[in-house]
Amino acid sequence: MTSVEENPVFDELTRQRTKEIVARYPQSRSALLPLLHLVQSVEGHVSQDGIRYCAEALELTTAEVSAVATFYTMYKRTPCGEHLVSVCTNTLCAALGGDAIYGRLKEKLGVGHEETAGEPGTPGSLTLEHAECLAACDLAPVIQVNYEYFDNQTVESAEDLVDALQRGERPAPTRGAPLTDFKTVELELAGVFPDLERSVEGPSVSPETVRGAQLATERGWVAPAMPDAPPAFPALPEKK
Ligand code: FES
Repeated sequence: MTSVEENPVFDELTRQRTKEIVARYPQSRSALLPLLHLVQSVEGHVSQDGIRYCAEALELTTAEVSAVATFYTMYKRTPCGEHLVSVCTNTLCAALGGDAIYGRLKEKLGVGHEETAGEPGTPGSLTLEHAECLAACDLAPVIQVNYEYFDNQTVESAEDLVDALQRGERPAPTRGAPLTDFKTVELELAGVFPDLERSVEGPSVSPETVRGAQLATERGWVAPAMPDAPPAFPALPEKK
């Protein structure tokens, strides 16, 4: 196996960005999560070399880095496509069509969970995954592409979406920043924004999500005042 120093994947720019990320934290080990995203921005996944790179940079063991990289689903252990397509199949999305969408995309792309249609990293390649709740239940069923939202999907709109991605197009998400690719978003998740203006462009909320707050404002509804002191817990029965 190539040593981290010899591995051309981790070039000078990545090493410089690593230093900047580590410098943000009082304790270097706190930089592990962004550093794993930085590795993904270079490799398109977290390889064994990536694990060793993080371990060396943060003076951790490879076992400690592996434990984190394998715990969180956002860290991918096999190479991803140009785009990561996440279909929510949690309860509400599933009931409203998420299961049907995931089933159709699996069939259409000929891949299963965390598998890639096309050569990973090449234009138009897509990694498919089913995801737990994407925190947009009011807009179910929901798909994310590189973590950008495509709300209120149907089987047909989901098929159109992956067709467009495979043709090399970048359809506009329902909200959030314009679509880029998996590696660019991983760089942003590492806290590095070469194009900050583009990264924060686009609507951040949907009308459905803020409707309740709008109604409350129109009707003058306010939340009850907070009590001065929190209510006391009832006393526990004495042990006999
Ligand atoms: S169940 Fe799909 S976003 Fe919550």
